[in-house]
Amino acid sequence: MKNVYIETYGCQMNQADSGIVAKVLTDNGYTLVNNQDDADVILINTCAVRDNAEKRIHNRVRDLQSLKKKHPLLKIGIIGCMAERLKDSLINEDKADVVCGPDAYRDIAALIGQTTGINVALSDEETYEDIVPLEIDSDGISAFISVMRGCENFCSYCVVPYTRGKERSRSASSIIKQAESLFNKGYRDITLLGQNVNSYRFEDNGKVIDFADLLAMTAAINPLLRVRFATSHPKDLSEKLIDTIASHKNICKYIHLPIQSGSDNMLKKMNRKYTVSQYLEKTDLIRRKIPDCALSTDVIAGFCGETEEDHRQTLEIFKRIGYDSAYMFKYSERPGTLASKKYADDVKEEEKVRRLQQIIDLQRELSLSSNKKDIGKTFEVLVEGESKRDKTKLYGRTSQNKVVIFDKQDNKKGDYILVEIENCTSATLFGKKKQ
Ligand code: 5AD
Ligand code: SF4
Repeated sequence: MKNVYIETYGCQMNQADSGIVAKVLTDNGYTLVNNQDDADVILINTCAVRDNAEKRIHNRVRDLQSLKKKHPLLKIGIIGCMAERLKDSLINEDKADVVCGPDAYRDIAALIGQTTGINVALSDEETYEDIVPLEIDSDGISAFISVMRGCENFCSYCVVPYTRGKERSRSASSIIKQAESLFNKGYRDITLLGQNVNSYRFEDNGKVIDFADLLAMTAAINPLLRVRFATSHPKDLSEKLIDTIASHKNICKYIHLPIQSGSDNMLKKMNRKYTVSQYLEKTDLIRRKIPDCALSTDVIAGFCGETEEDHRQTLEIFKRIGYDSAYMFKYSERPGTLASKKYADDVKEEEKVRRLQQIIDLQRELSLSSNKKDIGKTFEVLVEGESKRDKTKLYGRTSQNKVVIFDKQDNKKGDYILVEIENCTSATLFGKKKQ
């Protein structure tokens, strides 16, 4: 018997992938442990999207080398996007024992068995659809299902097409089976995942299933199952999808629609394939058809050649749309990407920091004003657990993906309850159970 400890960084897709790796390993005689000190093998599932994410992982792997002094047979493996990007340099320079890319997880047990095991082959077909992932670090209520892998959009700043390879969709039947089984185990909130779920497409006996169809099929499993999805590329978000969200009560009224920049010049250089006005057409359509829909975004400050005017346009579009929340980053050049070859990373670091901070400050105000609008309203909240700060309280989320804290009373995880919002911060709603 060998013990394996898996640590996950990066996106939700990585979280789902760690579950696949855990399943492959437990099928091969390993036991999953939740403490690195008990482990014979430590796997770090990594992200390569920004340089600071990678730096953190290099440091973490260096720190882990000291554990090897106490435990000489300990193996350290780097898996995921950084494994794919940096390949054997992780063995030579970071002294990893195992390097395994995102399409080689079936091979993970064999790789651990070798003195130094490396497999970073990308695949055009691998979707792991026959592997039922283990739910690790799970609250028993929310789960992720990956519905497709890879990305071929080649946004000029982004390393993902190189680390995750060609886009491929998993069969709808295997997705529905996984969702049904999660529901039967008590899960109530499922997020369908892909780098760009809007281009999901699977042919079943001559019938084409697109993402809107898949979402409707998942929602049909049970009205008590909430369905979410991430991430959407604005160029591919269809009216059919918006209509599907509008017409199903249990498809959450929350769309994450990364804009990346509010300047057409930047969007062109980013190879995003839409203009600001085309983006606005989509958000206006969403607002018209789903008035209670929350919107969130990703944005990058200080991309190559970004002027003060480009930046101002980003702030403008944030105000115009009034995002409910946002993931905000400063540009980090990634080797091998189109931007790294074509454009100079010429916005000074202090300037990137300043612009990012302005966006963060603005978003805090926008989130606060979005939350203030909820005061006095009543939402259906799915209870996800006890509040960490106060054991007499529970927390859950609204369909709009906002976190709500309220008194426990006789409720428990997995319940749907009506909560009237009484107060808020920019990050959280506070309310009381509606009697
Ligand atoms: N620098 C900064 N942010 C990036 N993202 C992707 N690549 C980079 C990069 N090179 C951001 C985008 C994307 C999110 C997952 O990460 O906003 O939507
Ligand atoms: Fe996820 Fe992209 Fe990071 Fe890979 S590089 S882990 S796909 S966010």
